[in-house]
Amino acid sequence: MSKRLFIKTYGCQMNVYDSGRMADLLAPLGYRLADGPEEADMVILNTCHIREKAAEKVYSELGRLRPLKAARDAGDGMMIAVAGCVAQAEGAEIMRRAPIVDMVFGPQSYHRLPEMIAQATRQRAAGTAAPGRGVLDTDFPAEAKFDFLPEASAAPGVTAFLSIQEGCDKFCTFCVVPYTRGAEYSRPVDAVHAEARRLVAMGARELTLLGQNVNAYHGAAPGGGEWGLGRLARALAELPGLERLRYTTSHPGDVDDALVEAHRDLPQLMPFLHLPVQSGADRVLAAMNRRHSVDDYRRVIDRFRAARPDMAFSSDFIVGFPGETDAEFAATLALVREIGFAQAFSFKYSQRPGTPAAASEPQVPEAVKAARLEALQSLLATQQAAFNQDCVGRVLPVLFEREGRYPGQLVGRSPYLQGVHATAPATMRGTVRKVRLVACRRNSILGELAEPVAGVGAVAEKASA
Ligand code: 5AD
Ligand code: SF4
Repeated sequence: MSKRLFIKTYGCQMNVYDSGRMADLLAPLGYRLADGPEEADMVILNTCHIREKAAEKVYSELGRLRPLKAARDAGDGMMIAVAGCVAQAEGAEIMRRAPIVDMVFGPQSYHRLPEMIAQATRQRAAGTAAPGRGVLDTDFPAEAKFDFLPEASAAPGVTAFLSIQEGCDKFCTFCVVPYTRGAEYSRPVDAVHAEARRLVAMGARELTLLGQNVNAYHGAAPGGGEWGLGRLARALAELPGLERLRYTTSHPGDVDDALVEAHRDLPQLMPFLHLPVQSGADRVLAAMNRRHSVDDYRRVIDRFRAARPDMAFSSDFIVGFPGETDAEFAATLALVREIGFAQAFSFKYSQRPGTPAAASEPQVPEAVKAARLEALQSLLATQQAAFNQDCVGRVLPVLFEREGRYPGQLVGRSPYLQGVHATAPATMRGTVRKVRLVACRRNSILGELAEPVAGVGAVAEKASA
């Protein structure tokens, strides 16, 4: 019998990927995706713990689910699971505080979901599913969960994510990832290659390789030894039908020559890189345990630009890290001006329980953080607008992904992830076309096709005959 599954995803693209795999895993058990929790037999909250209020958001979502579950429990009932990084960090606490939760499991355990469902169902049938006694699985199993996941069953879109690396051994002092996602693990090259081949065969034209520290990738190679990300990118670029390759998120300290050379040599590798620097002050970078200086970052950017002059960058920034002075914040602004980012994300420092920086003194007052964030975001917004404006008049390749808001329009992305909409025949969906960017609009860029539309000439001839 068909059952309905609703997954609510918070946070990063890794979670988006994980949610997709959970759906794949549950499809053979008869679960089909639902648009909302109302009709769902199973609701999974795939949570994020990276910044503030993550746990609170989960509890308030659970509060909204409570009446839905109560209404359904007369029949077959509704199962509620909390997954992801909040689950990993606060599993037992969630069980205790939210008795409506049947299952809690971390990012490393979701391949055991069918087993957990069976267990929770048995508990329920036996009437032993007392509040706080649901199924809890937040181990870091030694075996790799990827070996236990089924092949993706749902057809991907024109663009697809592919998780190649997970976890992190860097231990930046502000970050929970090493605690919630565990030690760094790279999937073997063969497994990545096979999944990439399947995704492309099912219609994906662009793959984004995912990892918390993706350029630390060092997967077991087919002939023995290990491959880094540069070598992997070369192998994937040979897949017929794969037009574009991206990867995220990278650490400046893990950029090697092979990766830079891959950008030089592979047209499939997009000239746009998310390379977080976090701060423009050496003392702050050291206190963050980032393991690189501002100058190291500049040199990495220069190497990429030398290899691919059209390369553009985005970054993450944290303002108000403990002890950050006005001068140190000014150094961040100066670095932003110097590098020139096409896009960026910036956040107020948020104390994460259990991380070293959470206990550092002095913490920066909230009002100072807010003022710094505003200043930084306004500079970054100006840079982004300038970057987009600079692209106006240029012809860029656009991968058309889907229909636009108006009839006859398609929407796609430039190499720089700019959303571009243009009048184009529906047959161009899933293909890369030359598009002249004409004008910046609020949320995307207006373009016009800069290549002939196949068939149009022939139609005109017939009409005039
Ligand atoms: N406070 C604020 N921002 C954080 N990030 C990670 N941890 C924290 C924190 N404790 C940001 C970093 C990282 C991005 C994914 O989230 O900038 O690159
Ligand atoms: Fe977190 Fe630092 Fe690892 Fe990135 S490199 S996931 S910021 S610990």
